[in-house]
Amino acid sequence: MLSKKLLRAMNDQINKEIYSAYLYYSMEAYFHSMNLPGFANWMNVQALEELTHAMKFFNFINERRGRVLIDKAIDAPPTNWKTPKHVFEESFKHEQLVTASINNLVKIAKEENDYASDVFLNWFVTEQVEEESSFDGVLQKLAMVKDQPGGLFMLDKEMAARVFTPPAAE
Ligand code: FEO
Repeated sequence: MLSKKLLRAMNDQINKEIYSAYLYYSMEAYFHSMNLPGFANWMNVQALEELTHAMKFFNFINERRGRVLIDKAIDAPPTNWKTPKHVFEESFKHEQLVTASINNLVKIAKEENDYASDVFLNWFVTEQVEEESSFDGVLQKLAMVKDQPGGLFMLDKEMAARVFTPPAAE
């Protein structure tokens, strides 16, 4: 059984993952409005990944005989940014907040000697290293490009190549 505290925190994490998807869909829409379809695609794939993160928590809570509660509103994300680089500065910061939230879940699981949750959360600890690295990687490229149209156009082509791979069934 999940403790009340960990169950509440995992239910809150579902909300945070869905908010992340909402934020990245908003960023996708911004990139479409900027005529940067490759960046829009990249954000679409990211949003889909966030929904799979939410469902991982959803399924884990059920497996542990906890009660999933979809009981909080999803906040409205921002809709506008100054530049593509600004989008990635903000999304990188957001991922760092998600990492802190995952680390807090690990802390609770360890305090409660909940080994199964600790093992489950390990996947997210590793995933957050990848997430931060992928956002930061794009940010570094945008810093080099300095929002110049030629560089953005080339980078947009690269961003178009990202594809969503559904996670293997567990
Ligand atoms: Fe689900 Fe991007 O963290």
